Amino acid sequence: MDKPKVLIARKTFDDIVDRLRPHFELECKEDEGAWTQAELIARLQGKTGVYITGTEKIDATLLDACPQLRLISSMAVGYNNVDVAACTARGVLLTNAPDVLTETTADFGFALMMATARRIAESEHFLRRGEWKQWGVTMFAGSDVHGATLGILGMGRIGQAIAKRGALGFGMKVIYHNRSRLAPELEAPLGARWVEKDELLQQADHLVLVLPYSAASHHAIGAAELSKMKKTATLTNIARGGIVDDAALARALAAGTIAAAGLDVFEGEPSVHPELLTVPNVVLTPHIASASIPTRRAMASLAVDNLIAVLTGGKPVTPVNPEVL
Ligand code: DGY
Repeated sequence: MDKPKVLIARKTFDDIVDRLRPHFELECKEDEGAWTQAELIARLQGKTGVYITGTEKIDATLLDACPQLRLISSMAVGYNNVDVAACTARGVLLTNAPDVLTETTADFGFALMMATARRIAESEHFLRRGEWKQWGVTMFAGSDVHGATLGILGMGRIGQAIAKRGALGFGMKVIYHNRSRLAPELEAPLGARWVEKDELLQQADHLVLVLPYSAASHHAIGAAELSKMKKTATLTNIARGGIVDDAALARALAAGTIAAAGLDVFEGEPSVHPELLTVPNVVLTPHIASASIPTRRAMASLAVDNLIAVLTGGKPVTPVNPEVL
């Protein structure tokens, strides 16, 4: 019997992909970068499964053009690049990669928040430009992280891991806003308190965004929200582009509405709003929050586990829409 055909749509770890070879006929993207949508559809012809990242767009048009597709296995936890309803309507299963990136992403979120509060990127650029002539009392003086109020918008696994770092490692007071409250036994060890979104905006010294992107969270932080924050506050976004109105944020940073921002994700990335590139009080990184080698390997491995499990007749490890089964 012919082996099912699987497309590996992004270059990934060869030894992890090799685990698929006994089971499937593989076609693999050999170079870095993504195929265009038309190329992706062409390569998907006759494929039963596809390995993707958080960037390939899987929509109704693609699904209709690839009727043999049964499984979309993403190595990302976020899946706003996939039209889940369209998958479900066509009986296509989507799997993602939760949990394996939680701690690494929380490490990065905390690091980005600290870099933002303590003006690390801005001061490094100043030093590299050769502008450091003498030590100064208030030179690049930022705000404290320890003992400050950490505000978290979205309190899933990554939000809780950031709260743990803040509360237990840095003595921060933790407030959060989420659709649902954490159970008291999760709140208590962190001293975390659920608050209304306005209170979160008004009280946080450092606000970190960790909510999934959806139509409901589009521009959850825009000009109106930024104007409610403290002038001394920082904003860190490690969630998804589009949750923040980047144009409004650039204006707020230039005007001093808030002190600084740390951004790992952008509206329309890899493009970055041009005004964000010119304001000094923002730390910019290219969507790397989960990018440690062990974690990226774990994400790839989980995506491969899902492909093997589902396409050899077993149960998915981490299904997003299990109702199709
Ligand atoms: C994720 O897993 O969602 C990361 O943001 C990488 O896309």
